[in-house]
Amino acid sequence: MKISVIGLGPVGGTTAICFAKLRHQVTGVDVIESKVNKINKLNKKRLKATLDTKEAILNSDISFVCVGTPCKKNGELDLTPLKNACKQIGETLKEKSSYDHHIVVIRSTMFPGSFEILETILEKSSGKKCGGDFYMAVNPEFLREKTAIKDFFNPSFIIVGSEDKNISKKVMGCYKGINAKKFIVNGNIAQMIKYINNSYHALKVSYTNEIAAICKKVNIDDEKLMGLFCEDTQLNISDNYLKPGNAWGGHCLGKDLSVLQNRAKKLKINCPVINSISKSNDIQKQRDKK
Ligand SMILES: NC(=O)c1ccc[n+]([C@@H]2O[C@H](COP(=O)([O-])OP(=O)(O)OC[C@H]3O[C@@H](n4cnc5c(N)ncnc54)[C@H](O)[C@@H]3O)[C@@H](O)[C@H]2O)c1
Repeated sequence: MKISVIGLGPVGGTTAICFAKLRHQVTGVDVIESKVNKINKLNKKRLKATLDTKEAILNSDISFVCVGTPCKKNGELDLTPLKNACKQIGETLKEKSSYDHHIVVIRSTMFPGSFEILETILEKSSGKKCGGDFYMAVNPEFLREKTAIKDFFNPSFIIVGSEDKNISKKVMGCYKGINAKKFIVNGNIAQMIKYINNSYHALKVSYTNEIAAICKKVNIDDEKLMGLFCEDTQLNISDNYLKPGNAWGGHCLGKDLSVLQNRAKKLKINCPVINSISKSNDIQKQRDKK
């Protein structure tokens, strides 16, 4: 396929290089000249970069938007780079024939609801209709910066979200040749998954560090302990306890959590994650009553 990649940061750069390796014809775009030059220096037959969004859109059937989505000081998602990129894409789509059925795929991480905002911008700037003249999809990226290329070719899964299954299949087709679990979902799930993944990873690290702090104080080998913990793939590292439902109850969970909290307090170890677990469960109990 003829692919354009908008934004050549860690995600866009990797996406552009790897799609070219999958034998697609790729044009990358960035507003920063040095990033464009870096890609062009690779001197690959199927890969080039430009500062000109219009050139890239006109020379492609499908665009992967990989610009940054920072958060503001108050934690709010800043959609400005995505809005600007979509406005530029839309202005070029105005010149493209609707028979091309260009697909705009948002690869940047964005919260559900963002898709509709970008759809409106694309429609306004192009004067065309999404779902008829052009199409949109979401395709979140899960790579880690240090192992980006390896992660691209060996992902945990590939997710494409769109309200149009045929469009999702077409986007998924770009990954032909990659042996991975592939899921076609709706746009909201595709947008939300990244927030779930990343908050869960952060929770695991913070939880583990609190456990390690307690272990260190009582002279227990924390690495050995966590290694053992991970050996249990039936309950600990599994989908058990990861299914939405009611608050937890029973005798053991509450009792043992209380003892752990109490001991950490006595050892003067601040454990906000562990301490918030029963508070969270009390709030869930209230929700369960509704
Ligand atoms: N970095 C990661 O490891 C990682 C992993 C998964 C997902 N993500 C998500 O992917 C997205 C991109 O991440 P990143 O780290 O590559 O971002 P980045 O900010 O490092 O790079 C974005 C690039 O887009 C360019 N850009 C901005 N506006 C542009 C425009 N209108 N036209 C062309 N280029 C433009 C910028 O100059 C920059 O080079 C974010 O939403 C991020 O949350 C990042």
